[in-house]
Amino acid sequence: KNKKLWGGRFSSSTDSVMETFSESISFDKRLYEYDIAGSIAHAQMLAKQGIIKDEEADKIIEGLRKIKRMIEEGEFEFRIEDEDIHMNIERKLIEIVGKVGGKLHTARSRNDQIALDIRLFLRDATIHIIDRLTDILKHFLSLAEKYIDVVMPGFTHLQHAQPVLFSHYILAYYEKFKRDRDRFRDTLKRIDVLPLGSGALAGTSFPIDRKYVAEQLGFSKISRNSMDAVSDRDFAIEFLSDVAICAMHASRFAEEMVIFSSQEFDFIELPDEFCTGSSIMPQKKNPDAMELIRGKTARTYGNLIQMLVLMKALPLTYNRDMQEDKESLFDSIDTIIGTLDVLSGVIPKIKPKIESLQKALDKGFITATDLADYLAKKGMPFREAHKVVGQIVAYAEKNNKELNEISIEELKSFSDLIENDVLDVLHYRKAVNSRTSYGGTAKDNVLNIIEEIKKELSIR
Ligand code: ARG
Repeated sequence: KNKKLWGGRFSSSTDSVMETFSESISFDKRLYEYDIAGSIAHAQMLAKQGIIKDEEADKIIEGLRKIKRMIEEGEFEFRIEDEDIHMNIERKLIEIVGKVGGKLHTARSRNDQIALDIRLFLRDATIHIIDRLTDILKHFLSLAEKYIDVVMPGFTHLQHAQPVLFSHYILAYYEKFKRDRDRFRDTLKRIDVLPLGSGALAGTSFPIDRKYVAEQLGFSKISRNSMDAVSDRDFAIEFLSDVAICAMHASRFAEEMVIFSSQEFDFIELPDEFCTGSSIMPQKKNPDAMELIRGKTARTYGNLIQMLVLMKALPLTYNRDMQEDKESLFDSIDTIIGTLDVLSGVIPKIKPKIESLQKALDKGFITATDLADYLAKKGMPFREAHKVVGQIVAYAEKNNKELNEISIEELKSFSDLIENDVLDVLHYRKAVNSRTSYGGTAKDNVLNIIEEIKKELSIR
């Protein structure tokens, strides 16, 4: 005899190897509150529709609430013999309220039940992540405001390119993380669909009221194809993709913090609270938090790929393979929330190191483009100007000088168009403030964008 809730047609009990292999309770117990919320709404609907009696629903709901308390107080014993969260709860319910507990699963299958649980769970997680992202956006904004006068070298190919405002650099990340938040908001629309009522795959013959259940659980839409509803996990793939992209942004920022805080760059100071020392080298202050953000990004990619491969070529509708959808979701959520929390702690405490930034700006011919633009504005075709400045840079390099160390006379020897006013152009702050095109790094521009951002952050 088989004592499982589904054991009726079996003549022998499940092999213990099989039990260990197939259980999901060790991880899906994390879904308990969503499973119970879904069951309560379902029971209420069954009673409202006269499918079960009001007193029966009351007993069931009371039992479910008791189970929730037991789980929260650590008094619930999860059993792998009961396979998953659904059957652990149902078995306990029947134990507590008696046979009537067996009516809860009327007009329902674990297939629509798990689809519901994941959606409820992901809805909360997504809202949580959106809130964390909003905090980070605010931190970026404050940092940009605080250091509005700091200039730093901007890079392409990790080579000195053109000077930019530190605030402009920081707000570049604001934009990236803002798109991440938009992506999560958009994914919420696809999560926000009630699958319950789809039954195992074909719907149910009971006169259920899905609209009522959707209202109880706060869904604004109801799935309209039962076969799609129990086989769909693309909302989860989309969510994992949002997480992976967001982690990718975090890893780029983290990488720059590692580089910029190194002795070689010395552009910024990271807060002690998020760095660690060495057990052997007393002088060390290691940027471990940033390195871990960089490193943990790998899991979020792995999780996305795992889910894509899991779903690839799966025939409709439910297949047990789909039980493997949970751990990568949980891991991606925990990873991204940890990452965002650390960023929230670090960003407000980042300090640009003004003196060494200035030193860096004097190196690497960072205003060479400005010199070329200067010549072009005096009528020289830009291509030609580019060449002339290239020759000046080669000359400077040969003589071991920086651009601003070359005398006016020396400069003039390269072109008749060069006059005394060229000195203005060669200063990095002038160079920054000349970039007034919309989206450029001139201080007035950046201040305008800061105003725009303040508005958008207070609106939502
Ligand atoms: N534990 C299962 C899962 O996570 C629940 C659905 C099981 N359905 C089934 N027909 N075995 O996917």
